[in-house]
Amino acid sequence: MGEPEKYFLSYRQIHETVKCLAGRIAEAGFDPDVIVAIGTGGFIPARILKTFVNKPVYAVGISYYGLDNVPTATPQTIQWIDEVERKLAGKRVLLVDEVDDSRVTLEYCLRELLSHRPKEVAVMVLHNKNKEKRGRFPEVIQHYFVGREMEDRWICYPWDAEDISAHEDQARATV
Ligand code: G4P
Ligand code: MG
Repeated sequence: MGEPEKYFLSYRQIHETVKCLAGRIAEAGFDPDVIVAIGTGGFIPARILKTFVNKPVYAVGISYYGLDNVPTATPQTIQWIDEVERKLAGKRVLLVDEVDDSRVTLEYCLRELLSHRPKEVAVMVLHNKNKEKRGRFPEVIQHYFVGREMEDRWICYPWDAEDISAHEDQARATV
């Protein structure tokens, strides 16, 4: 049997991946002051993480659409909650997203965060796709926590499912 074309992941698997990540973050000695979630895929992982690392969660959004609503090649606009900027100076920040795919969004976000003078920024993703990356992590990033390394295939997250029962059945069948 070959590799599946798509990965289907259940909420339980995601929860367990986040719990495991929280353990590894603690083991590495990284103790964040704040968690910053990249929307929308990072919202649910960040909330689960808060169960294990009880720190405030802030949210930022990245858009691939310019002001004229035309898709762009790189992230163009960013929804920053103004509070986020003020809360970052001197803090240890853990940036959370669901998947490291091209790394473009992550790089853009990291550069924005670093411009607000945090003490340190670490990155946590549920999944890293093993592929050539277009984005790069700035050199000051010392910690990069990955839940699972994945082949470059489409990952179906439970929050995207219109029929969650069918999705969970698929997730069980492709463990
Ligand atoms: P990266 O820097 O984190 O690698 O993200 P990249 O810009 O490459 O990703 C563009 C969009 O594609 C992101 O969503 C990301 O979540 C989504 N994406 C990439 N690979 C997969 C995948 O295998 N499965 C799913 N479900 N999504 C994937 P976005 O446009 O920022 O929106 P949102 O979905 O987070 O709201
Ligand atoms: Mg995303």
